[in-house]
Parts: sequence; structure tokens; C-alpha cells
Amino acid sequence: IRVFVPRDTTALSLGADEVAERLVQETRARGLAITLVRNGSRGAAWLEPLVEVETTDGRLAYGPVTADDIPSLLDGGLLDGGLLEGGHPLALGATEALPWFARQQRLTFARIGLTDPLSLADYLAHDGFRGLAVALTRTPQAIVEEIKASGLRGRGGAAFPTGIKWQTVLDTEADQKYIVCNADEGDSGTFADRLAMECDPYLLIEGMAIAGLAVGATQGYIYLRSEYPLAKTILDEAIVRAEADGYLGDDIRGSGQRFHLEVRLGAGAYICGEETALLESLEGKRGLVRFKPPLPAIEGLFGRPTVVNNVLSLAAVPYILAEGASAYSDYGMGRSRGTLALQLAGNVRRGGLVELAFGTSLRELMEGFGGGTASGRPLRAVQVGGPLGAYLPEAQWDLPLDYEAFAAESAVLGHGGVVMFDDSVDMAEQARFSMEFCKVESCGKCTPCRIGSTRGVEVIDRIRAGNAREANLELLADLCDTMVDGSLCAMGGMTPFPVQSVMKHFPDDLQR
Ligand code: NAI
Ligand code: SF4
Repeated sequence: IRVFVPRDTTALSLGADEVAERLVQETRARGLAITLVRNGSRGAAWLEPLVEVETTDGRLAYGPVTADDIPSLLDGGLLDGGLLEGGHPLALGATEALPWFARQQRLTFARIGLTDPLSLADYLAHDGFRGLAVALTRTPQAIVEEIKASGLRGRGGAAFPTGIKWQTVLDTEADQKYIVCNADEGDSGTFADRLAMECDPYLLIEGMAIAGLAVGATQGYIYLRSEYPLAKTILDEAIVRAEADGYLGDDIRGSGQRFHLEVRLGAGAYICGEETALLESLEGKRGLVRFKPPLPAIEGLFGRPTVVNNVLSLAAVPYILAEGASAYSDYGMGRSRGTLALQLAGNVRRGGLVELAFGTSLRELMEGFGGGTASGRPLRAVQVGGPLGAYLPEAQWDLPLDYEAFAAESAVLGHGGVVMFDDSVDMAEQARFSMEFCKVESCGKCTPCRIGSTRGVEVIDRIRAGNAREANLELLADLCDTMVDGSLCAMGGMTPFPVQSVMKHFPDDLQR
């Protein structure tokens, strides 16, 4: 009998190793034979460690399991065809039938939690490398056309059409081109990149190899934040195994095509998630933002044409090639095609990764999937799109998850981070945090951001202290406009968004 105990960072931090160890000890003591599989997480953080047992009717789920639950689960018949829902307080029934999973549209994350992340055989058995196989039969232009037709837009946050970015790199002549994966996932409340890398590393490898074939790049780098050591270990090992089996290297699957891949670690600066600062860092320099133009697509890493894409943009690519552009673009609404990986965090009862077609409402996400707040108190505000995203009040919770609908409300979907707050939150404190964050993380290249964020903290402190409040509120509004209009990159240019949203939607908090 195969028993699955996840081994991603979330499950490990919640005691998955202890659960696995106890399971081995207890089954051995009872003379029971099991095959323990350390799979990736399915992304339901609220159920981790989520133990699954394979049965003839599919996998049955139990969670959240602690090591001390193992004896009672075994006593109850965990391995005898599995415990049905209701047979044990932790028995949840068939995993795939759980509404939290069944109501998602998982295209990019279809495989997470199903497989042993490092097993190539498992990856292949679950449709792995089918996209690469298709790409190897196509011309570079035909691959780029497929991505354009899918409507895929950059999932790092800016939502620029991926196919157009690739076209620019394909059309730029050079002796060397690069694919750079931005895995410097720094937004508060986000973890989708990490889950993809830890739970399905070959997916990213496949997406990057396809990107290389599409634009004529033979070298790829994954720029990974140093706070993700497990992702580094897993990716490094996956790259070695993919090379050994000819999915990377000098002759990909006998095609004569070349693509090499390496992981590079960042050093903890949020700004190195900005693509040009990332490229500087990758070149061994301080992470300082570059002027654009030239775009990285034309002069990127070491001055060569470079595709810089987020993990999730690249991870969406294999499905598009394997199933065809329209299979992907059939999901979504308006110009937001396909699916979005949403990450429910903060004060939420059922946190985790929810992949949905664009168009679902924010309320459905927070209440239907998230189940409201963990504290049980009324939900008051939600920050979507990381620390640079606006705080949305209840009047905006019926917004559909769509890039344009959010932009119309001066909000962003960003990288899909959704951080929820109950009615005990002090929104003036949150506004202050935005400026403070920018003050700490600014690269310092331009004045509106470097000086503006420091002054922003001071002005908010004066407002909170009731010191010339009206005059300081006016000053803060002015400062926000200056930062939006005058900053070189999104760090200084978007920091005012959360501050302005507090001034607009939660003005009372600035008056107390
Ligand atoms: P941007 O709008 O300047 O650029 C978007 C992308 O399109 C860039 O890669 C740019 O080089 C490329 N591009 C633009 N025109 C092009 C053309 N004609 N041909 C080829 N490529 C072209 O936005 P930026 O500054 O790269 O990103 C800002 C976003 O980053 C924000 O919206 C924010 O949501 C997000 N963000 C995400 C974070 C995360 O942890 N994922 C952290 C901080 C911000
Ligand atoms: Fe650097 Fe801030 Fe200017 Fe961006 S806006 S270039 S982070 S100083």
C-alpha cells in the first residue's frame, strides 16, 4: 500500500517528517508493509500535513495529521482499504472530491501533490515532457505563435503578453541569448513559485527548455531567493536528472538542440525581483535598477537578448504546448486568459494555493475557498498583489479576478497574493508599513522612492499622532502622487497604492 506524506516546506514546518517517521515506526512494529512516498504538497496548507493512502478507488485524505495521530489512524484501519470520511476525526474522504480541490481549475498545478517531485518516471507518467516533445517538432516562430494565441500574460505581476516578449527576443539577432527565470518570489503572502519548484520541478525545467527552443537561447538561469533552500536542493537535483535523461544538455532527446540550466541564489533583497536589478545581481553586481530602454528582451543579461519570465509564466508553457493554445485560452475572461494561481494567506481559515480561471470574484475566493477569517471575526480588508497592492474594502470584494477590472479600481492582481485582515486591523499601521517597507527595500537609485518613502513614514507618524493632521494628509497625498509619477520602477511607483487605498477607503483609521 502506498502512503503519501508531503515533503514541501509548508508540510515540513508543520511536522511532516515526524509524521513520516512515526508512520514507519508504527507500521514496522505492527508488521504492516507500506511504501512511503514523499510527495509534493497539493497546496492546501490548512490541511497539512495531508496524509494520503492509495486505494482502488483513488487516494483517501487525512489531515491535518500529527505524529501522535498515527496510532489511532492505524487502529482505525488506515491501511485496510482506508478509513472513510466520518470513520476518524481526520478522515476527509477521497482527496479529489474535497470541494476545495474539486472546485479549482488546475492547469499549471495539475500535478502537484500527485507525484514524488524528483521522480522522472512519475513526471512522465503524469503527462510530463509532452509539451517539450511538441516543441521539438515545431519551428521557433510556431512555438512563439502558440504562446501568443494562448493569451498568456506575465504572472509575475505586470501581465505583459508572454508571446510578444518572446517574439522580441526571437527577432533580436545575437550570438548568445538567455532565458532567466525570476524565482525571487518576494511578495508578502505569496508561495506559488515555491510550491511549483518544490513540488513539480521538472515543470519549470520543461517550460524553460521550451522557451529556449522558442527564442534560440541555449543557456538558462533560475534566479532563486536564498530563503528557499529546499527549492534549491530540489531544483539542483532535478536538473542533474533531467540532463542525465537528455531533457537538458547538448542534444535534447536526440534533436541536436541545446539548452543548459543553472540555479543562482539571490541574497535577500526584494528589489532583486525587479527584472533589471535581478540581471545586475546575476552578473555579480549590486542589485540596482537599470534604466529601460533598452528592454532586457533586447539587451538583458551580459547585454544579450534575454527572456525574463516569472516561474508561473514558464510553468504555464508546457500545458499550452501539449494541449494547444485554445485549451488554455478557453479559460478566463476578457484579456485575462487561462488560470491564475491565488495564494490565500494572512487571517484566513483555509489558506493555501487556489488555481482558478480568471473571472471568479474575490469574495468567492475569500469566503468560498478561504472560509473567512481564522480568528472568526468579520473580514475587514484584503491586500491583493503583494506589499505594493491596494487594500480593498468590502465594497470591492465582488470584483472579478481580472487584470483590467482590478486596474479600473486602482488595484492590482500582481502575483496573486491575497492577504486577509479582520476588523481588529489598524489600517493606518498598514499604510505606515507600506512606506516603511519601501524605505527598507528601496535600491536608492532615484529620489522619489529613496527619500519619499522615508518622508512618507514620518508624515504618517505625524498624522497618527494628530499633529497638524489635515495639512499632513494633504502632504501625504502630494507625496504619493510624486512617487507614482517620478519613480524609476514599480517599487517606488506602486508603494503609494496601498497608502492611497487606506486614505480613500479607510480614512477613519487615519483620524484616530
Ligand atoms: P513592466 O510593465 O515595466 O514590464 C513588464 C515586462 O514586459 C518586463 O519584463 C518588460 O521588460 C517587458 N516588456 C515591456 N515591453 C516589452 C516589449 N515591447 N517587448 C518585450 N518585452 C517587453 O513591469 P515590471 O516593472 O517588470 O513589473 C512590475 C510588476 O511587478 C508590478 O505590476 C508588480 O505587481 C510586480 N511585482 C511582483 C513581485 C513578485 O514577487 N512577483 C514583487 C514586486 C512587484
Ligand atoms: Fe530604486 Fe526605488 Fe527608484 Fe526603483 S523606484 S529604481 S527601487 S530607488
